Amino acid sequence: MAEDLLISLRQIKRIYGSGAAEVRALDGVDIDITPGEFVAIMGPSGSGKSTAMNVIGCLDRPTSGQYRFNGVEVGGLSNDQRALLRRHYLGFIFQGYNLLPRMSARDNVELPLIYKGLPKQERIARAERALDLVGLGGRAGHDPSQLSGGQQQRVAIARALAGEPQVVLADEPTGNLDTKRSAEIMELLVDLRRERNLTIVMVTHEDDMAAYADRLIWMVDGKVQRDGPTRREVQDAV
Ligand SMILES: Nc1ncnc2c1ncn2[C@@H]1O[C@H](COP(=O)(O)OP(=O)(O)OP(=O)(O)O)[C@@H](O)[C@H]1O
Ligand SMILES: [Mg+2]
Repeated sequence: MAEDLLISLRQIKRIYGSGAAEVRALDGVDIDITPGEFVAIMGPSGSGKSTAMNVIGCLDRPTSGQYRFNGVEVGGLSNDQRALLRRHYLGFIFQGYNLLPRMSARDNVELPLIYKGLPKQERIARAERALDLVGLGGRAGHDPSQLSGGQQQRVAIARALAGEPQVVLADEPTGNLDTKRSAEIMELLVDLRRERNLTIVMVTHEDDMAAYADRLIWMVDGKVQRDGPTRREVQDAV
């Protein structure tokens, strides 16, 4: 059973500060995710959604609890090993997108592929394919200052997908996009999931976006309050 799990969080706590200033950003979280699942995480502001994503993305270490990725105990890995895990298995679509300025969209998308050790030709081909995929084929040579907020976000999505990760972690991926673009991005993720058995974990504040997922985790005060199928899944099943 446990071997089928891609992501397994057991009693994960992430506590900031101490004494009166203590914040329990995560307060005993259990989450299991199998390969190919599309999970939405929702909940009020400050409920711990981004903290959970940072832990799952090996960007932050929990204060206590156990995190296994592909059966590997992440807590036992060195920083370098965690960086390798991120590079080879995870794609990030996070708020703030962190695009490098004065670098073209193509170069931004290509960058993580350099760390993966792919040859130049292959990198360029993949970067351009990923930009086409998000509808930015014609903007590959533009740098971030020459792109709108929504376009920058799509570059970040292309960058996350170009590495062909096993898991995409998306924290409000469509937060700056209009309804039509948001729907396109979600269709794209759904297609990739079907074609490549991509696993998707997505934080969103919007019911419309969560409806693309098949499972919804509802967080409150650093805890999982509800974890079950989305309405769409329930409707599909009837
Ligand atoms: N570096 C930090 N130091 C102290 N407290 C923090 C830190 N980062 C987050 N927190 C606190 O942890 C709690 C959870 O934050 P988190 O960013 O995970 O919330 P969220 O659910 O993503 O909220 P939002 O929907 O607003 O993005 C909040 O109370 C926040 O203030
Ligand atoms: Mg957040």
